[in-house]
Amino acid sequence: MSAEAPVYRAGRRRGIDLLRLAAGDQVMDIGCGTGLNFPLLQEKISPSGTIVGIDRSAAMLKQARRRAERSGWQNVILIEADATSLTPAEVAVSITAAGGRALSDAVLATYALSLMPDWERSWLNMRRLLKPGGRTGVVDMQRPVGRYSVLTPLALLACRLGGADIDAHPWTAVERDCNDVASSSARGGHLQIRVGTT
Ligand SMILES: C[S@@+](CC[C@H](N)C(=O)[O-])C[C@H]1O[C@@H](n2cnc3c(N)ncnc32)[C@H](O)[C@@H]1O
Repeated sequence: MSAEAPVYRAGRRRGIDLLRLAAGDQVMDIGCGTGLNFPLLQEKISPSGTIVGIDRSAAMLKQARRRAERSGWQNVILIEADATSLTPAEVAVSITAAGGRALSDAVLATYALSLMPDWERSWLNMRRLLKPGGRTGVVDMQRPVGRYSVLTPLALLACRLGGADIDAHPWTAVERDCNDVASSSARGGHLQIRVGTT
């Protein structure tokens, strides 16, 4: 199972806090990878809630499944799908077939949209799988600013190695399309967090 890079933990924790999840909520994690968000999400939703993890990589989902099994979580639904090209109605059917609800209370994407050249399509799909009034969170990276800008070469290298576009700035969609937007940043502005209501 892949280890958490400490630099990114602050962003995921803050994003999940701002989602204002409650016990029993269903939260969808787009580009969930190995499930690094899952322990923090579980703390908020309790065993009566549901996590729906979506990723296009079978290898990532295998690790996420192993994480859920090792932790004894019975409330994790994993779906292999490309977030940019999935059909929301089909995904909703898969979720209900697995015991979840068609629409989620919250949708989250951490360090994932910047890997998707057509992330606007994913953003649209995320919102179609969200219930009216639900919360949407985006946590992603940009070039460090201010005194942290000396770390820019490192940040660029990390993004290049991970296949992310550091200049994609997908959180701007939350500012553009949501209400009641909460903003935060960490690591010298390298991590940007936006959560809003749809
Ligand atoms: C850098 S990892 C981040 C994983 C996780 N969200 C986290 O915070 O640790 C990006 C993940 O996005 C997934 N991904 C990239 N493009 C995708 C797409 N078009 N549809 C679904 N998943 C995608 C990758 O397979 C990978 O697991």
